[in-house]
Amino acid sequence: MAKKRIGILTSGGDCAGLNAAIRAVTRRAIDGYGWEVVGIKNGTLGLISTPVDAEVLDKQTFGGTLLRQGGTFLGTTNKGDPFAYPMADGSLKDRSQEFIDGFRELDLAGLIGIGGDGSMKILNKLCELGEIPFIGIPKTIDNDVAGTEFTIGFTTAVNVAVDALDRLHPTAASHHRIMVLEVMGRDAGHIALHAGIAGGADVILVPEIRYDMAKIKEKIRRVYEDEGRTHALIVVSEAVKTKDGSSIMHANEDGKMNYGGVAHVIGDQISKETGADTRVTVLGHVQRGGTPAMRDRVIASAFGVKAVDLMADGKSNRMVAWQNREVVDVALEEVVTRYNHIDVAGTLVDTARGLGICLGD
Ligand code: F6P
Repeated sequence: MAKKRIGILTSGGDCAGLNAAIRAVTRRAIDGYGWEVVGIKNGTLGLISTPVDAEVLDKQTFGGTLLRQGGTFLGTTNKGDPFAYPMADGSLKDRSQEFIDGFRELDLAGLIGIGGDGSMKILNKLCELGEIPFIGIPKTIDNDVAGTEFTIGFTTAVNVAVDALDRLHPTAASHHRIMVLEVMGRDAGHIALHAGIAGGADVILVPEIRYDMAKIKEKIRRVYEDEGRTHALIVVSEAVKTKDGSSIMHANEDGKMNYGGVAHVIGDQISKETGADTRVTVLGHVQRGGTPAMRDRVIASAFGVKAVDLMADGKSNRMVAWQNREVVDVALEEVVTRYNHIDVAGTLVDTARGLGICLGD
């Protein structure tokens, strides 16, 4: 009898820990159930391309190194929505049936998709349409997927941001400067809040809290006068809105809108308002790379094993999640209709305020 085959793909922006999750899925499927695992290349693109782009994965594929490597060796895309696929002439085409046909061509019994909130929505819809058993694994440096305390890649990104603050601090102190660090995170301030607390920021600006420049100015005055310090660290989330309520966004050549650069506007404002010598660092995609942190490897491994076990139990339309130190599963329906913002009344916001960190309000 032919072995049962399942497919795995990574979708959306990459992050550290994806390879660890693919490895865990492969090991569990082979050792636990005697299945075959097919790695689909470049997210949904692998199934809509002709011929389909995929390879059989086995334990030799990993050889001990991939667990430690950032990125995804399968490749990924964040612009391959098969329901509205961007064609060369600029039009959008529904290629969802090609995705389903590609899946059938590989003779797969189910799909495990590693993605963020956008990918979960698309993959869930595709699999419902094609009646494909589907289990999702949450990843994104932004940590904005509902239903899970942590997504794969978040901890590594925060560590990069903390490291940046550790490097900015001595130069800020030496030159008596204010250093403004912009971090990613899209519409959620998780990276900024965690990194700001861990990295000793004086001010943390997040999209969930509108800032008032007078409050920032007052905080800097207190740093100078009450603490006798002549330098300060400010962390800004990329989606923070400027004084007039606008976000700083720019279109990539493919038309995708991205955040980036708001720290320059805020840095200029701070410099004008306080007279302080101010410098800005936009951290960007370095937050997505590097060696995965311990927690990213651990949750990636737990997610991979659990995803295969769910599929073996005949479950579908579920996402694995991390809750109260356990790996659990939640209904995808609940995940795709919600967004995980920071809790403005939660522990970390209280902690920041308790430390005297200005949150801009
Ligand atoms: O969602 C992850 C993320 O890194 C965001 O933090 C950031 O806004 C965006 O992706 C950048 O996307 P791209 O890879 O298209 O530049």
